[in-house]
Amino acid sequence: MLFEDRVLYPEFRARMVSADEAAALIAPGDRVGMSGFTGAGYPKAVPGALARRMQAAHARGEDFRIGLWTGASTAPELDGVLAQAHGINMRMPYQSDPSCRKQINAGDMQYMDIHLSHVAPFVWFGFFGKLDVAVVEVAGVLPDGRLVPSSSVGNNKTWLDQADKVILEVNQWQPAELDGMHDIYYGTDLPPHRVPIPLVQPHDRIGEPYLRVDPEKVVAVVSTHHPDRNSVFNAPDECSQRIAGHIVDFLQQEVALGRMPRELLPLQSGVGNIANAVLAGLDAGPFKHLSAYTEVLQDGMLAMLKSGTLDSASATALSLSPAAMERFLADIDFYRQRIVLRPQEISNHPEVIRRLGLIAMNAMIEADIYGNVNSTHLMGSAIMNGIGGSGDFARNAYLSIFMTPSLAKGGAISCIVPMVSHVDHTEHDVQILVTEQGLADLRGKSPTQRAELVIEHCAHPDFRPQLRDYVERAKANPVGRHTPHLLGEALSWHQRFVQTGSMRG
Ligand code: COA
Repeated sequence: MLFEDRVLYPEFRARMVSADEAAALIAPGDRVGMSGFTGAGYPKAVPGALARRMQAAHARGEDFRIGLWTGASTAPELDGVLAQAHGINMRMPYQSDPSCRKQINAGDMQYMDIHLSHVAPFVWFGFFGKLDVAVVEVAGVLPDGRLVPSSSVGNNKTWLDQADKVILEVNQWQPAELDGMHDIYYGTDLPPHRVPIPLVQPHDRIGEPYLRVDPEKVVAVVSTHHPDRNSVFNAPDECSQRIAGHIVDFLQQEVALGRMPRELLPLQSGVGNIANAVLAGLDAGPFKHLSAYTEVLQDGMLAMLKSGTLDSASATALSLSPAAMERFLADIDFYRQRIVLRPQEISNHPEVIRRLGLIAMNAMIEADIYGNVNSTHLMGSAIMNGIGGSGDFARNAYLSIFMTPSLAKGGAISCIVPMVSHVDHTEHDVQILVTEQGLADLRGKSPTQRAELVIEHCAHPDFRPQLRDYVERAKANPVGRHTPHLLGEALSWHQRFVQTGSMRG
């Protein structure tokens, strides 16, 4: 399909320029909102051209960095090139790029790691200052200038609305059949004028399929033909299969106890290999006619839609491996009827999540014996990725499940520790912890009861004696026996790892 067939609004055709010409419209110090969510729907050409400009400016001894805002993680062609060009002074709200991570952890890039549902409202409120430029990938432009979104929606509605200038990338690699898959809700308002969001079923459509943009703001249109990042997921290993098995058993029990219907409640599944593997486990389980109200649609959910385990899925982005993307494209009409892609302020909205009563399943880095969860930081200080939407879902879900293998780094690290080295989800938001060892149901339990369950059900047997010993000695601490800790020792496992390369005592 030709560029002219994708861009049906004549005025935008006339604004077609090269990526270099478009990048020249971005100035040092600008705040730039780019599309992109978990490697889908990010601009493929302008960021590279911008990075080249930055490198040339740096070679002349000039500073050229921007504030970079996105939906969530992007790809080497966006986060990677801009980080390598030392061109980002503030990154927000989520990344998973090795070059970005390195610079953030070296203190060379500022990073604001915030709940994904907060991003759009915080920008509307003006908390982060004015957005100068939006760079948004689309699949096409209608004759009236409205935009057909591509493989992610993320914050695009907000960037298009809030930016002074808009640069569009029209990616002809994105299937034209995406048209109609999206649901863009324009009913949000600022307090005190907010009204309820009229979404009562996960697959409800409450908006329109297209993004609106003021044509006057569109300063450049760039043509691309380039695939999304499409990274491969690890095949489910024995450990993740066991985690999935514990979750399936637990959900079956909940159904038997009459706490949820046979079709369960809408599923939310987080990012990464473990979350994806757990979906494969659910697909092999006894459940049928489930629904999903989630943030990213990974390979596992695509397979569940095909097998009939899932009837429908609502998300803000696709995040598929190359093989899954081929299956998606080959059967796009089937998936189009079952998938809705929404702005992230709706996919992750606390009001909707609470109303629908989700089963939230997110991976974590570590949990402590009292149920606090760290999703983001290694040894308390180094960022891994970010909180993403895990907090949006964990706090507001009907059931909040966190999962991890019990050991990391070849057994040198216990993912169950006396005290987490960074807190993303407090004990008040975490109901179920799962490792390959077992599942701890923390609902209705006091801190000391939780500690017993977490140690006996989730910790690796190699670390249980060390954990039991910690709790017993902490209980003798006269300061307080409600959540017993030994302050001088609580983080000593992490300290030992930093010093010796192992948490083993
Ligand atoms: N201490 C140190 N490193 C640890 C660790 C621990 N306790 N637990 C895991 N790791 C390391 C692993 O060794 C691995 O390192 P490597 O990349 O060098 O091999 C890395 O963390 C990822 O672990 P993995 O087991 O492959 O998990 P994953 O791919 O399922 O990702 C998270 C797990 C927590 C990093 C990921 O889910 C995440 O970023 N979550 C936060 C955002 C989120 O939940 N979003 C979903 C909302 S919809």
